[in-house]
Amino acid sequence: MSMQTSISVAVASAKGGVGKSLAATNLSALTAARLHLRTALVDLDAGNGIDDLLLDLAPEKSWLDLMPVLQEITSEHLELARTVHTSGLHLFAAPADYVGAHGLESSQFTALLRVLRENYQFIVLDCPSGLVPITRNAVSRCDVILFLLTPDAPCLRSTQRMLAHLPESPPLGLVLSQYEVGGVFSPSDIEKTLRRTMLGVLPIDARAVWENVHYGQPCALSRKRGLAAEYRRVASVLTKDLHPHQPALARMPTGNGS
Ligand SMILES: Nc1ncnc2c1ncn2[C@@H]1O[C@H](COP(=O)(O)OP(=O)(O)OP(=O)(O)O)[C@@H](O)[C@H]1O
Ligand SMILES: [Mg+2]
Repeated sequence: MSMQTSISVAVASAKGGVGKSLAATNLSALTAARLHLRTALVDLDAGNGIDDLLLDLAPEKSWLDLMPVLQEITSEHLELARTVHTSGLHLFAAPADYVGAHGLESSQFTALLRVLRENYQFIVLDCPSGLVPITRNAVSRCDVILFLLTPDAPCLRSTQRMLAHLPESPPLGLVLSQYEVGGVFSPSDIEKTLRRTMLGVLPIDARAVWENVHYGQPCALSRKRGLAAEYRRVASVLTKDLHPHQPALARMPTGNGS
């Protein structure tokens, strides 16, 4: 059986605030800590990145520091720019500066992704919302797009518009976020409207998100049910070609507590 050596996942959305950064941090913490995959998380949201906060990290460098050495980049350069999380994941934090990151050219992005592929098995690109240039680069060069949306009319309309502008390849997994049973739109309504099947449905989980947002504890590592369980299921699906002999995250034992 032929196995992929690396998978890069761009986490994107049409509207902001849907849950991309929570998903990106939790999925990468899971693949690093539970599947022991060499995992890189790249916070592409220059100026607004929060992945460091969601992981309780204090990065001194960002991926923008790699730009001057991109053509001759080595693993040592990556070591200098990364921040290591207790889960084992390597965060390439967002630069505080919008301006430098906006000047990033497609060729620079391609070079960055190439060196990440050479050094990591699972690469998560946490994108800014909408089709800004850096997101366009990420969604056209990654292996899988994880596209999040919330179940409301404004987000559904923006999603329809953005999906129409995305390339046919790479494959796209739709993830419904902040879902509550009994809402106006069900997952199957949304599947019919968008003519796509859903890869995951992330429930509203205020307690899990509270700890994550305020204390930087990835809920997928500390909790078993609710949002954490769905992150595990999505992580299993995304990494199925990377870890044929590893126990599936989706079958991890569940306890009583959340
Ligand atoms: N499953 C959930 N349950 C409850 N609240 C949620 C959930 N997912 C996201 N939220 C809320 O949405 C907020 C935004 O989440 P997050 O920062 O992950 O979104 P984002 O898509 O990355 O936003 P941006 O577009 O600004 O980058 C969280 O701080 C939280 O308040
Ligand atoms: Mg975000």
